[in-house]
Amino acid sequence: MEHLPGFRDFYPEPLPHQDVWSADARQYLFDKWRDTARRYGFREYDGPPLEPLELFTLKSGAEIVGQLYNFKDKGEREIALRPEMTPTLARMVAAHERNYKKPIKWFAVPQLFRYERQQKGRLREHFQFNADILGETDGAADAELVALLIDTLRAFGLTTQDFVVRLSSRNAWQAYFTQHGGPTGREYDFFQVIDKLERTSPEESQSQLAALGFSLEAVQGFIRSGEPTAELAAILDNLAARGLREFVKVDYHVVRGLAYYTGPVFEAFDVQGEFRAIAGGGRYDNLVKLISGGKAHLPALGFGMGDVVLLELLKARGRLPAFAARVEVVVLIEDEQLRAGSLRLVQTLRDAGRAVEYALTPTRPNKQFKQAQELHANWTVKLVSETVVEVQHLNTRTKRSGPSAAVLHLLAET
Ligand code: HAM
Repeated sequence: MEHLPGFRDFYPEPLPHQDVWSADARQYLFDKWRDTARRYGFREYDGPPLEPLELFTLKSGAEIVGQLYNFKDKGEREIALRPEMTPTLARMVAAHERNYKKPIKWFAVPQLFRYERQQKGRLREHFQFNADILGETDGAADAELVALLIDTLRAFGLTTQDFVVRLSSRNAWQAYFTQHGGPTGREYDFFQVIDKLERTSPEESQSQLAALGFSLEAVQGFIRSGEPTAELAAILDNLAARGLREFVKVDYHVVRGLAYYTGPVFEAFDVQGEFRAIAGGGRYDNLVKLISGGKAHLPALGFGMGDVVLLELLKARGRLPAFAARVEVVVLIEDEQLRAGSLRLVQTLRDAGRAVEYALTPTRPNKQFKQAQELHANWTVKLVSETVVEVQHLNTRTKRSGPSAAVLHLLAET
């Protein structure tokens, strides 16, 4: 039986096949995401993978709602698998914001589900690193978040040769829309056309823009000008002070597909333009208010970075490390009379935090030793009598013997 299209099985390395997903690589991503969030002072939260349908139909926008995995549960509730984390975060923060000092800096690594057309970099489930700041209107928060995005990618060894953050603002487009007499209430339709400009034929974009009273040429002229607004210039100066300016360029192609964004927005792309967006986010100052029915009103901003494109990029640039089993010690049981004592030894080593393997059933000594080498263990440890242990370092081949009670000490010395 196969898994569903767009879903993945994750196997431990070494992988049985090139096209199989690696559980070790996934963990590597999660570890780096968590570590970078920690360096920036973000705390981890989580929410339920199933949510009331309404949470997403409220303000995420038509595109994502069209991709929902939604159904009625056995209690006749309309529910959906979460396609993104932001509405859940907004709900959670609104419920308990008084208990937390502002700005709130939280991150999560949820698995998300979208019924999308399957294509390169887009599946029907993915894991997404989310980092959000709530309770701060100043652009310093936007800069902090863009810096976190840059440093997350730098943590994987990626450089300015590999990725760029394209910075833009809904405010800039809103001003353009108003100045050019855009029809009231149609901003989101306009933003949707801009969002898809690079993936739609010029003829189609032209006719969609014309329907809203705009010309493709004028819109492209505005994008080409790339002049940072005062709001964006402040973010760029902040990033320059950190030495991170060269990772960012102003690019008004970016406007973001989701409906709730209100201010600066940004997306990270690979420099060669081979892949879909690595990450995207921006300011959404009205979502908490909307989701809490007006009870809480907190400005907010954040981004999401998926695991799919990031892994494709790291693979393509040779930036993934080799993943090996992380066994440190193999306990050799060459004399079955000593199995009980050996199990005690295994337990002592594991209690001390060591990763330990041994043969579960009687096995030829040379086979046990070969297994230790295949596992790239650092040491073998074996009982030579009830009370005497021998430790061998597998690289240097140094051997030491001593009382079995002193095994941890012997290990540290060998
Ligand atoms: P998004 O742009 O929809 O934003 O997704 C963010 C990232 O998730 C994308 O750049 C991509 O890497 C990854 N991604 C999205 N859909 C898929 C898919 N079907 N398969 C694989 N990867 C995918 C959001 O979701 C916002 N909620 C982010 C955010 C957080 N904004 C503020 N806070």
